Amino acid sequence: MSSSFSHHGLQASQYTILFFLSICLAFFNVEAKVHHLKWEIKYEFKSPDCFKKLAITINGLTPGPTVTATQGDTLVIDVTNSLLTENVAIHWHGIRQIGTPWSDGTEGVTQCPVQPGDTFTYRFVVDRAGTYMYHAHYGMQRSAGLNGLIRVLVPEGTVEPFEYDDERHLLLNDWWHKSTYEQAAGLSSPTFEWVGEPQSLLINGRGKYNCSLAAGAMDSCNKENSECLPESLTVVQGKTYRFRIASVASLSAFNLEIEGHIMTIVEADGHYVEPVVVKNLNIYSGETYSVIVKADQDNSSNYWVALNVVSRKPNTATGTAILNYYPNHPLKSPPTVAPVGALWNDTAYRVNQSKSIVSHHSYIEAPPRTTDRTIILLNTQNKINGHMKWAINNVSFTLPTTPYLIAMKNKLHHVFSQKPAPETYDYENYDIHTVLSNPNTSSSNSIYKLGFSSTVDIILQNANTLSPNNSETHPWHLHGHDFWVLGFGKNKFDPKVDPKNYNLVNPIQRNTVPLHPYGWTALRFSANNPGVWAFHCHIEAHFFMGMGVVFEAGVEKVGKLPKSIRGCGESK
Ligand code: C2O
Ligand code: CU
Repeated sequence: MSSSFSHHGLQASQYTILFFLSICLAFFNVEAKVHHLKWEIKYEFKSPDCFKKLAITINGLTPGPTVTATQGDTLVIDVTNSLLTENVAIHWHGIRQIGTPWSDGTEGVTQCPVQPGDTFTYRFVVDRAGTYMYHAHYGMQRSAGLNGLIRVLVPEGTVEPFEYDDERHLLLNDWWHKSTYEQAAGLSSPTFEWVGEPQSLLINGRGKYNCSLAAGAMDSCNKENSECLPESLTVVQGKTYRFRIASVASLSAFNLEIEGHIMTIVEADGHYVEPVVVKNLNIYSGETYSVIVKADQDNSSNYWVALNVVSRKPNTATGTAILNYYPNHPLKSPPTVAPVGALWNDTAYRVNQSKSIVSHHSYIEAPPRTTDRTIILLNTQNKINGHMKWAINNVSFTLPTTPYLIAMKNKLHHVFSQKPAPETYDYENYDIHTVLSNPNTSSSNSIYKLGFSSTVDIILQNANTLSPNNSETHPWHLHGHDFWVLGFGKNKFDPKVDPKNYNLVNPIQRNTVPLHPYGWTALRFSANNPGVWAFHCHIEAHFFMGMGVVFEAGVEKVGKLPKSIRGCGESK
């Protein structure tokens, strides 16, 4: 090493690095900041809907703190696991983790779980403005309360294609009184106990359970508890608001309505939408939206923000928050009954709203015209050795004990199935409208290896469940990428005909999309983010029962893995 050029201990090479670094900073964003957060994860008794139960909290809060940063900033989050007897991992849903696949937080895929007493540091850049979320990605922990909102702001001076005076947030969730352990044990037991419909719906972590229904557990339910006072969002007449909305629901598809106010959808999963005016918004677990709402109503009263279950027969009271017109008291009840939203079984209404969400005309990034590979994924409910499962092309997904990222990077080929996951199903003969027994279903941790930077089409194909005349809605979420939503269709996807009707002009890009009952959804993405990435149904119980797959692309291009992601399976 040359030591002839040295000043204040700096080597010539270090000067060069500093020089380029400062040029880069000046070029991209002088103000890119590093936000350092310290989070302690622990159980606490909480009564979000007046019923007291253990919840997983971040620094004592559920939902956790809203994370705010500006595009280009770095987040450094030290997560200390104080759950005592339970592992944890946190996923940054919608953040692509370009160059940092090990910070994706997907236990079993990108990292070993964080063990009790340990601190794990997530470090990543938020490279695109928009509304995102975070949540636990270990077992069914998301349902235990470990979730929150991420806001990535546009750099100063950047104009967005809509205007507003101020922002409000709606983090939507469904809530059960049974612990997630009881739920998980029920799902995996041979007698199968389904989690059932939620006891309540939460808006910003607040709901209201009817305590008189809490038979035998009356002590645990106290309707006077201040933790379950309704959420109130104050607005001033004449002003315009951007509502950032995210659904971290475990199960439910939601319909959100603000009494007396129309909403204009302007953002979906971090992408600008060609504005759509709606009376109510269907939002599926894992999706985020921004809607513009004008406070243009009579300000002598308050209005309901109403959250209703759709797609499954509802057995949960409407979730409510109060839209508070200044200067009314924030908790003044609106004089009306809260809206009941859209008809729960009006699938056509929801499909049409899904189809109406396309890219804003000034922000179109057109998809590649053709694809390199088409993978068709049949979604079915199955039984394996008497256990109820969900399967994709007759394979029910299981996680390996050594995370894929570590296994693939270190060529530990024996730690998961090397058999390629199935590319399609018997689409000529399979009748998606009847209950089939699928005798050949098996469990596997096999994956799809994608050509790096290749274009991949995914066709999600829905089918009948094990109950006659029943097909469910599945919100599918892709880690590490956004996909283009090319189309939605009814019945069985026809590979010869349906691609001719794809929207290749202005499809929205997003990370989560619904697969509607008895229908199909077509997606396209570029496998250009080196790493190993989960793609799964965002219904917590469905993923737990095997409803997911894993994609690998360009793993050889991934930089040196941090030691901290190891510590389990054969990765020690
Ligand atoms: Cu928000 Cu893998 O999930
Ligand atoms: Cu599902």
